[in-house]
Amino acid sequence: MRFDVLTLFPGLFDSYLRHSLLEDAIAKGLVQVHLWNIRDWSHDKHHKVDDRPFGGGPGMVLMAPPVVECVEAVQAQAQPPGRVILLTPAGERLTQPLVRRLAQEPRLLLVCGRYEGFDERIRDILHPWEISIGDYICNGGEVPAMVIIDCVIRLVPGVLGDEQSIAEESHNTPGELEYPQYTRPRVYRGHEVPPVLLSGNHAAIAAWRQEQAALRSQQRRLRPSLVDAPHETPPPHSSWPAEKATS
Ligand SMILES: C[S@@+](CC[C@H](N)C(=O)[O-])C[C@H]1O[C@@H](n2cnc3c(N)ncnc32)[C@H](O)[C@@H]1O
Repeated sequence: MRFDVLTLFPGLFDSYLRHSLLEDAIAKGLVQVHLWNIRDWSHDKHHKVDDRPFGGGPGMVLMAPPVVECVEAVQAQAQPPGRVILLTPAGERLTQPLVRRLAQEPRLLLVCGRYEGFDERIRDILHPWEISIGDYICNGGEVPAMVIIDCVIRLVPGVLGDEQSIAEESHNTPGELEYPQYTRPRVYRGHEVPPVLLSGNHAAIAAWRQEQAALRSQQRRLRPSLVDAPHETPPPHSSWPAEKATS
């Protein structure tokens, strides 16, 4: 599987590409990640890629020519040309079913925005898939691109040491969570591992896990949101935990 990341900050990926599963997947030739600096397609002698919005307003907008021409040039680098994905808060929200869909593609171009986002004509010309990693605003598309790579490579055959890991994961079925996991020590600060997990009775363990997974999924559905309980939410930059502990 091939990812092409189009960004103004390719250096943000240096460390990410050199760790853990992704590093191994690249070394084994299962995954390729190519980084491209959109600034290299600037028409301006100072490599400018953004400008003020027509009609006024705050911030800067990514100009259409460097982004469109960078995408076209990168697509022409290899076959197949790949699916163009625009990372944007307005896109389809990333879920595990969407991750599975993305993993079927042999090549994805991940276009990372910055500043106030993209000139609308980038959408009009490229007809990209638009994906959001959630209903909040990141400073740029680089972390969302890493999130997509991180989720998708898990589904590329051979990337995980044990393919069984994928079979029982949370969100395979929307809303369904995995059961609780334990490892050594058997007792930690008075908290014991459930005895059934030490019993060696595989049928009983499977039944317990199924029951716990259902319980955990239900608890999550019923859990009140922190947004609905603002008095329990730490205000930014406060010493909330310390104050709370002494009050
Ligand atoms: C500061 S954001 C711009 C937000 C834009 N002004 C808006 O209100 O939709 C800059 C870039 O970060 C990326 N980005 C921010 N949040 C994102 C999210 N939730 N999902 C995907 N990309 C996101 C996009 O590429 C976006 O163009």
